[in-house]
Amino acid sequence: MLDDDVQSVLISEKEIAAKIIEMAAAIDADYGLPLSDGAAGREPGRELVLVGVLKGAGFVMADLARALRTPVTLEYMAVSSYGSSTSSSGVVRILKDLDKDISGADVLLVEDIIDSGLTLSWLLRNLQSRNPASLEVVAMLRKPEAIAVDVRVRYVGFDIPNVFVVGYGLDYAQRYRQLPYVGTLRPEIYS
Ligand code: IMP
Ligand code: MG
Repeated sequence: MLDDDVQSVLISEKEIAAKIIEMAAAIDADYGLPLSDGAAGREPGRELVLVGVLKGAGFVMADLARALRTPVTLEYMAVSSYGSSTSSSGVVRILKDLDKDISGADVLLVEDIIDSGLTLSWLLRNLQSRNPASLEVVAMLRKPEAIAVDVRVRYVGFDIPNVFVVGYGLDYAQRYRQLPYVGTLRPEIYS
């Protein structure tokens, strides 16, 4: 069982589900949830595009999209950062680009975790150059270093300590993404 490799659960499945609801409510409020009197709160013709960064953010994307009441479209990017498997260098290569033009759209970049923030700041510069109407970030997890480097993250699920975590989309050597919670691995797994 994958669970046997887990040392401790940092964030439970229940806590994640509650946080998704909370973040979706905040996003709906900011992007024009249909008002209770039935009038559309959202400017017609302006699209909210969720841009997910594969593979990890796939889980947050699917859960967040289902919790939102604001109509959205989904786009995915895949990037690889040159560097070791557990830290990133900030040099990014696009493996899969967006399928469509995002100019004039409200773009919400969806991330699983922000660690050094290097991948994120590169992505923000790249997406900004495509002239979206707005560009914001939602991240399920954030590590302390990311707070230090001042990357603008509008919505954060959980601030976690500087430990390597797996689950809810996060991998170690491509494994453990499927765990429904976020946890740490037993030390012997790394050896
Ligand atoms: P950054 O450029 O340092 O912010 O790197 C972010 C990326 O590193 C994430 O999208 C993850 O793929 C990976 N990453 C950072 N911390 C962890 C972790 O604790 N577990 C699994 N992957 C992580
Ligand atoms: Mg990874």
